[in-house]
Formats: sequence, C-alpha cells, structure tokens
Amino acid sequence: MEGLNLIGTQPFDTARLKIRPFSIKDAQFIYKNWASNDNVTKYLTWNTHQSIGDSTEYCNSVVKATPQLDYFHWIIELTEIKEPIGDIAVVELDKDKREAKIGYVLGEKWWNQGYMTEALEAVLAYLIFVIGFEKITIEHFTENKASGRVMQKCGLNHSGTSKCVLEQKGGREESTEVYTITKQEWFAKNIRI
Ligand SMILES: CC(C)(COP(=O)(O)OP(=O)(O)OC[C@H]1O[C@@H](n2cnc3c(N)ncnc32)[C@H](O)[C@@H]1OP(=O)(O)O)[C@@H](O)C(=O)NCCC(=O)NCCS
Repeated sequence: MEGLNLIGTQPFDTARLKIRPFSIKDAQFIYKNWASNDNVTKYLTWNTHQSIGDSTEYCNSVVKATPQLDYFHWIIELTEIKEPIGDIAVVELDKDKREAKIGYVLGEKWWNQGYMTEALEAVLAYLIFVIGFEKITIEHFTENKASGRVMQKCGLNHSGTSKCVLEQKGGREESTEVYTITKQEWFAKNIRI
C-alpha cells in the first residue's frame, strides 16, 4: 500500500470560497462571525467563546500547528466579502489505516446557502485524491439534521449511530449519526473516464 502524500494545509479556491490556512489576523472574525454564537456551538463539542481572547488563543494554536505536514485545518473565507465565515479540519487521523475524521463550523448568517457543501466537497477531493486517504468519517449530533444533509449531499453514507460525551459541557451525553465515504465510493461518484 502506498503512503499518504502528506503536504499539510494547502490553500485552494472554490466557486465562492477561499479555503486557506489560518492567519493570526483571523481571530477577530472567528469571534465575530461564529465562535461567540450559542446557536452555532449548540451542536459542537466546544463551548461558545466568551471573549476575543478565547478566539485568539484558539486561532494562535491552529497557526502554530499549521506547518506540520500531517495537520489539515482551513479557514473558509467568503471571497465576496474577504472575511472568514467558518472553518473545516481533520479532527482525527489514522495514518496506518489512512483514515481521517472531519469537523466543520459555519457562521449562522451564512447557513443554508450551500457554503459548507461547497467547502466539504473540495476538502474531500483534497484529502482523498491529493493526500490519499482511504476513508473519511464525519459525525453529527442526531438532532443536527442540517449537518447530516451536508454529508448526504457530498456523497457520504450513513454507517451507524454512536454516542459522545461532551467533556466541556458537564459530561453531557449526545447521540450521534456517523457518516463515511471510502476512496472507492468517492472515485465512483466524482471521476468519469
Ligand atoms: C451544519 C452546517 C455546517 C451546515 O452548513 P450550511 O452551509 O448551512 O449547509 P448547506 O447550505 O450546504 O446545506 C444545508 C442543508 O441542510 C438543510 N437543512 C437546514 N436545516 C435543516 C433542518 N432543521 N432539518 C433538515 N434539513 C435542514 C438545508 O435545507 C440544506 O439542504 P438542501 O440543500 O437539500 O436544501 C452549519 O449549519 C453549521 O455550521 N452549524 C453549526 C455548527 C455545526 O453544526 N457544525 C457541524 C457539526 S457536525
């Protein structure tokens, strides 16, 4: 089996988005555009940021990790307004099995306009076609139907249910839906010879 082509968080563009590495200048937009909003963090494992300081700390930690070639974490910037509106990342990685798990978040103002579907489609292509992952998994809280819909639109298949314990939210337990796509399934959907 060939190894992964580990080239880290490279930038690319889609029709309406710039998918690019984090910069220290992004902290103010992370706070303003999504991380300070309880409606956004409702279905996430992390808590709403209480101040720009929380977003700065988060942003700096991502910037610091970004040079690692096995680290994949992008800002989603809306080209039209040149502002970050969300982020998307590999949140778990198994290099031996060549499997990755993705997480994503988008500011509420931009929901239901196809932006996360656009971002995820591009990131899947990058991770499968360019890096060489064999399988991608994404998990959402059962209640979070919009996220499940994004996964379906991007060709992932429902593979089961699970549970997660939210350490940052007092140890609350949430039921989750697990979706996956294999390299073979992605090629069958996207590559026409
Ligand atoms: C989930 C999230 C990423 C979706 O991003 P988005 O850019 O709005 O997604 P899209 O516009 O590409 O697609 C959303 C789809 O969900 C559908 N949808 C929205 N609300 C829904 C609901 N309550 N029930 C069912 N479907 C819903 C939309 O109609 C759309 O489907 P369609 O194109 O078939 O009409 C965004 O809402 C978000 O960041 N939420 C907060 C954080 C989060 O939940 N992250 C994911 C954790 S797993």
